[in-house]
Amino acid sequence: MLIRGRDTGFTHPHASEITPRALYEGRRDLLKLMAGGVLAGGALGNTWAQGTARPGKEAALPAGKSAVAGAMTMEKVTAYKDAASYNNFYEFGTDKSDPARNAHTLKTSPWVVEVEGLVKKPGKFDLEQLLKLSPMEERIYRLRCVEGWSMVIPWEGYSLSELIKRVEPQGSAKYVEFVTLADKATMPGLRSGVLDWPYVEGLRLDEAMHPLTLLGFGMYGEVLPRQNGAPVRLVVPWKYGFKSVKSIVKIRFVEKEPHTAWNKAAANEYGFYSNVNPDVDHPRWSQATERRIGEDGLFAKKRKTLLFNGYEAQVGQLYAGMDLKQNY
Ligand code: MTE
Repeated sequence: MLIRGRDTGFTHPHASEITPRALYEGRRDLLKLMAGGVLAGGALGNTWAQGTARPGKEAALPAGKSAVAGAMTMEKVTAYKDAASYNNFYEFGTDKSDPARNAHTLKTSPWVVEVEGLVKKPGKFDLEQLLKLSPMEERIYRLRCVEGWSMVIPWEGYSLSELIKRVEPQGSAKYVEFVTLADKATMPGLRSGVLDWPYVEGLRLDEAMHPLTLLGFGMYGEVLPRQNGAPVRLVVPWKYGFKSVKSIVKIRFVEKEPHTAWNKAAANEYGFYSNVNPDVDHPRWSQATERRIGEDGLFAKKRKTLLFNGYEAQVGQLYAGMDLKQNY
């Protein structure tokens, strides 16, 4: 991104930090959600929610393991503490530690996502409706940030395609635009001119329909913490992290490529596609390697970045015949 945050040191929680209280609270949250009917019918196979560990302080969000091809990497999962404290959410500040410190002001309830544009069934979906739309799945995805670091995060949600099918896109819909909340009263970052608010992202309709494109509501078996984009965000694992737009309030189906926030800020640095690609350097740095958060230290070796972040088998076909250097 244009502004690089300070790097912070990382510590990892030990098994001894998992307290009986966290365990107890986890069950209580789960019962509450089930009593409310929100999670009725959801499979309860989730290791994070069902096992002994509840890593954070959010309500539990159980999910079944995903059957989507490529959705469950076996790589070591990043510590929750890191995933929830080293964030990019410029609406709450540009330092990596700002969102965790500032996002407590974000009001996530009530929350409504408006679906509009070139669809046969436009409408407003509140969070309860969205949570019930399709069974929650756990997906363990690599997330590669354009800045050169990556994490492995267990997300909870379902394929965005489930929502798209309900609203029935018209034949003329070619792209989908996603808009983040922009509320000056609760988002101190909006006072800065670093981006043209609201934060807008976009996908081609076939990318949005790809089963790996996740509409995310939780991580590590719990609902999303605010700094990670509560209550609903996108996770597009083969693209640079900035495509994974947080705290979505609007989804618009359009004919033309949307003007995305980072593309407007620096078109030569942040293209519309932004597929992870070790062979296409950012104008100011190489994209060939990455630092896995949690593997810090003086002698930690950088990892080689993989084409499409390692999801080539699943998504490569979407870009057949396209010049990936031109369409960066
Ligand atoms: N969404 C909004 N609305 N605002 C942002 O600043 N940052 C993006 C993306 N989504 C951002 C956003 C970037 S650059 C990254 S790397 C990911 O969120 C980080 O997600 P995480 O904090 O959950 O790891």
